[in-house]
Amino acid sequence: MTDEEIIRYAVARAIWAPSVHNTQPWRFTAGDGPQIGLYADESRRLAVADPDGREMMISCGAAVFTLRLALRSLGYIPQTRVLPDPAQPALVAQVSWRERAAADEFERRLACHVLTRRTHRGAFDPEPLPPDTLASLRAAAAREGAALRIVADDGRRAALAVAVQTAEHELRHDGERLRELARWTPAPGSACRDGVPATSYPARAEHTQPDFPGRDFARGHDWGTPSLSPATSHRAAGVAGLLTTTADRPADWVNAGQALQRIMLTASACGAAVALHSQPLELPWLREFIRTQLGDGACPHLVLRIGLVTQVAVSVRRDPGDVLFPIGGDHAGPG
Ligand SMILES: Cc1cc2nc3c(=O)[nH]c(=O)nc-3n(C[C@H](O)[C@H](O)[C@H](O)COP(=O)(O)O)c2cc1C
Repeated sequence: MTDEEIIRYAVARAIWAPSVHNTQPWRFTAGDGPQIGLYADESRRLAVADPDGREMMISCGAAVFTLRLALRSLGYIPQTRVLPDPAQPALVAQVSWRERAAADEFERRLACHVLTRRTHRGAFDPEPLPPDTLASLRAAAAREGAALRIVADDGRRAALAVAVQTAEHELRHDGERLRELARWTPAPGSACRDGVPATSYPARAEHTQPDFPGRDFARGHDWGTPSLSPATSHRAAGVAGLLTTTADRPADWVNAGQALQRIMLTASACGAAVALHSQPLELPWLREFIRTQLGDGACPHLVLRIGLVTQVAVSVRRDPGDVLFPIGGDHAGPG
C-alpha cells in the first residue's frame, strides 16, 4: 500500500472511535510521508458540558488508539507522540510508522471490532461475564496509562448509581445543557452524520437495580428503538467501574481516551458490551465526590457498566473525506 492508501485506511477506521455525544471532535492531517496528525476540533467541543475540553480530549484519545490499532493491523509499528507541541495545544497526537512487524492474534481480533463495536444504553442480561474478562479489561486500561476500578462493593455501587441519578436529574433541569444536548440529538430519519441518532438508544428507558439512568437523548419525543430483550425486573446493571488516571492534565485525558477504546474493543472481543455515563463527571462537585469517596483519590473520567447483551444500536459517522486534510490545507491548522 502507498502511504496515501495507509492514511486513508487508518483514518476511515479511527473515525469509528467513541466520542461524547458522537461529536467526532477531530481532524486529521497528512502530508507526503508516513505520518498522520490528529487535531482536536474546538468547534465541536461541548461549550457548556465540557468547558475544559476534557471529554473532547478523551474522544480524541479514543481516535488515536484506533489509528494505532489500524496501523498494527496492517503490520506497521506506530510511533505516537501525544501533545507533541506545546505551541499547538490542539495537536493531540502525531502518529508515524516505518518499521514493520506482523500483528498478533489479539491485535487482529481487536481490529475486527472497530466498525461493529457500539456503546450500549440500557440494561444487561443477567448472565455473568466470561471468566477473565474483567482482568483483561483492567489490563487494557493499565497498558494505556489509566486504570479501570471495578466498584464491586454493594454500598459503593449504590452510591455510584445515586451519583449518576443526581447528575441526570440536574442535567434534565438545566436549560442551557438541554439546548446543547438538542444540537447533538437529531430526529429520526435525519441525514446528520454526527450526534446520537435515534437508532442508537432504547425508546423506553431500561431501569436496573441499582438504577444508572441513561441520558435523555429523546427529550420527550417518541424516539428510539424497541428493545430486543424482554422488559423484566431480571435485567441487570452489569459490572460497574470507573475509568481513572492519576493526574488530570490534557495528556492524561488523551490516555484515558486511548484506554477507553482499548477497553471497549477488548470487551467486544470477549463478547461483552460497555455502557458509558459521563453525567456525574460533568458536574464538578459530583466529580469531586466520586474522586474522594469512590475513586481512592484518582481522577475519574467515566462511569462504565460492563455486561452481556444482544445489541441493536446503529450509529453514524461523517465521511473520512470530511475530516482528512492535507498539511497546510485550508482546515488543517490548529483551531
Ligand atoms: C467522553 C465520552 C463520554 C460519553 N458519555 C456518554 C454518556 O454519558 N451516555 C451515553 O449513552 N454515551 C456516552 N458516550 C458514548 C457516545 O455517545 C458514543 O460513543 C457515540 O454516540 C458514538 O456511538 P458508538 O460508540 O456506538 O459508536 C460517551 C463517549 C465518550 C468518548
